[in-house]
Amino acid sequence: MDSLKALGIRVSLDAEKAISENSITSDELLSLKKTFISPEDLEPILKKREEAKAQEMQAAQAEVSRASDYKPLAKEYSPEFRVHESLDVTGKSRTEGGVADFVSHFQNRFERISSMLRTVGGKYPEADLYGISKLAGQKVRTIIMVSDIRTTKKGNMLLEAEDLTGQFKVVISQRDEEVFDKAKNLVRDDIILLFGKVSQAFLIAEDFEWPDLPVAREKKKAERDLAAVYLSDLHFGSKEFLGDHLARFSEWIKGKGDNPHLAGKVKYLFIAGDIVDGIGIYPNQEKDLTELDIFKQYGMFAKFVEGLPDYIEVVVSPGNHDAVRRADPMPALSKEILGCSVTSIGSPSYFCAENSEHLIYHGTCADGWISTLPHLSYDEPEKVMIECLRRRHLSPIFGGNAIVPEKLDYMIIEKEPDIVHFGHVHKNGYARYRGTTIINSGTFQDTTDFQRRQGHIPTPAKVPIYEFAQDKLRTLDFTR
Ligand SMILES: [Fe+2]
Repeated sequence: MDSLKALGIRVSLDAEKAISENSITSDELLSLKKTFISPEDLEPILKKREEAKAQEMQAAQAEVSRASDYKPLAKEYSPEFRVHESLDVTGKSRTEGGVADFVSHFQNRFERISSMLRTVGGKYPEADLYGISKLAGQKVRTIIMVSDIRTTKKGNMLLEAEDLTGQFKVVISQRDEEVFDKAKNLVRDDIILLFGKVSQAFLIAEDFEWPDLPVAREKKKAERDLAAVYLSDLHFGSKEFLGDHLARFSEWIKGKGDNPHLAGKVKYLFIAGDIVDGIGIYPNQEKDLTELDIFKQYGMFAKFVEGLPDYIEVVVSPGNHDAVRRADPMPALSKEILGCSVTSIGSPSYFCAENSEHLIYHGTCADGWISTLPHLSYDEPEKVMIECLRRRHLSPIFGGNAIVPEKLDYMIIEKEPDIVHFGHVHKNGYARYRGTTIINSGTFQDTTDFQRRQGHIPTPAKVPIYEFAQDKLRTLDFTR
């Protein structure tokens, strides 16, 4: 009251009592612009307060009714989802890892990729490498595996080529700029269809083709307006695991965030490996973990799954940090280790969801690709994925990443996928290649010391979501 007196404002005794009882502030009294304040003058202040309170209550009620009005479309449909089990190694691993197993593995690869290349066809009669020098002077097409790539003194490219019948040398001249540039993308163990002219000692290349995806494919229609979310590299148990960000995603998928209409369309959640950070994956990993028990790491994941709406189909494929063998192809994680109700499949695996053929693979081959071809980097994982599709093989470079020599090569991209989903590099990347939607789904792990030293910047908590009926891919940001 003293401050009001100093401003020349007087207050009646009754008003003073009411001011004290209602904790009316000096600012509120000054807003009346009066030199003498009686109890009646206080009425507009009290009325304004009541109105604000009523508005607050209304807003709270609206919030409650909005939450109870949330009716997710995906809840009304059962999943249309089928795994192509013959292309998944789970339960079918038949190898002892000996020389004979490697021979039959590579024969299987050569024969199956050759069948794909034969559909490419082309000019010139087909020839095997055995006795090819007898065809000197003739033009041929031949299917070869590139066993070595060298540069000659004159700067031309020299390939050591082999097939199931023999070996020969192939020269790609730098004078033929177009083919020479294309050949810079050749890698060891590539299987290609080569066109060229035979000389006594060499085949002079005119052109070549990888098996690749067909250029034009009819877009399949999805009838139901549903969506899938693509995740990978959650790394439960790591000190860098972004639990708050994943909790934000969990709230969103229950319709408690922006765009609940979109959240309600989510029928599928696909996870491309590295569910947990694992144990003993690299030296001294213990110092980077919050949880040293592998079962408890998967227990954290199970809790996350239990918090998701039960109408969502969760599909899990393993990665190199998970509790399966480290080499490709990886079998599915067991029910015992996962400890929750999800569909567990191998890496790679093929499945059809909402009429879209999917290929899911952790993407471990990216390391070999990036260290082999100069135009590839961890910043653009989608380009690695395109190289795989071009070869119709997920890991063509032998030694690029560990491979188990299964008699059937499960790394061949047998089916033409509508959607390809990788993880591993912790960086979101997207592309459209010959009608196939390419998704690398990033991570929920913050930058690790190793990545910092490598100068690699991940993109955590950015979640791709695909709407089937609209053929529309977008990214949701759960960093804030
Ligand atoms: Fe990872």
